[in-house]
Amino acid sequence: MEYTGAVLTDGVFNKLKELIYELSGIYFGEQKKYLLETRLSKRLSVLNLSNFDDYYNYLKYSPEKTGEVKELLNSVTTNETSFFRDMPQLEVFVDILKQVVQTAGKNAYKKKIRIWSAACSTGEEPYTVGILIKENFPSFALNFELIGSDISTQVLDSANKGIYGSYTLRNVSPEILKKYFVQIDDDLYGIKDEIKKMASFRNVNLIDAKDVKKLNEFDVVLCRNVIIYFDAESKKKAITNIYESLKKGGYLFLGHSESLHSITSLFKLVGLGKTPLYRKE
Ligand SMILES: C[S@@+](CC[C@H](N)C(=O)[O-])C[C@H]1O[C@@H](n2cnc3c(N)ncnc32)[C@H](O)[C@@H]1O
Repeated sequence: MEYTGAVLTDGVFNKLKELIYELSGIYFGEQKKYLLETRLSKRLSVLNLSNFDDYYNYLKYSPEKTGEVKELLNSVTTNETSFFRDMPQLEVFVDILKQVVQTAGKNAYKKKIRIWSAACSTGEEPYTVGILIKENFPSFALNFELIGSDISTQVLDSANKGIYGSYTLRNVSPEILKKYFVQIDDDLYGIKDEIKKMASFRNVNLIDAKDVKKLNEFDVVLCRNVIIYFDAESKKKAITNIYESLKKGGYLFLGHSESLHSITSLFKLVGLGKTPLYRKE
């Protein structure tokens, strides 16, 4: 982190938090003021600005504002993720895939089974799904279509590269590591092409209905550990957009600490306990 010495005063904090909220749905409460100051200090350094008021004006009025908004979103998003995150939930996910494959029957050869990792960060989630597909449906993998998306362009660049350090691979068994990764050096592994080419990545903002409309007809959507950063209104927007993108009968997985309770009754809750699982009726 760069140290600029600039302090985020209440006035400019409120303006920046409002702008970030409008752009992304991410809500920075008062208790996250210092976090925002830390995250944006680097942008001040890069742009050679001495205070946050100038940075806000740059975001609003500079000819470079479009590019800087991208950098802002790259800076304020929390991108923590890992391979095989929340294994008990992924076991339920595999059960659902088996059900979807069975329902699709012969049609699956004509019409692909579509899975969307909405807010996929650096790609661990969609590549985990790719590995689970290869492991569970070895002769059927080509009938799946796997899309990962995120609001941050920086994480999508990493996802496209598919190179990972050992920390994010901590839950990967030695057999799976050997089978689907190539070791590049002591602490660096590349995902093998057979998995990499299963997934494609898009820059999509979940609270933007027009953006999400570009993606549709999904059988299963994973939207894990994202709406936790939203307030109720943004949660409702994102979930409504996802609802529209799902096929009838399609499934939505949220993170295990997330729920649609008091957000929307669009979905039917079909899984409780092991994982919150929702279905579009
Ligand atoms: C904590 S990560 C979760 C990654 C993965 N789904 C998982 O559970 O491991 C949250 C991701 O949500 C993305 N995000 C935040 N707001 C978003 C929005 N409005 N639209 C799309 N992605 C968003 C962030 O950029 C970040 O990569």
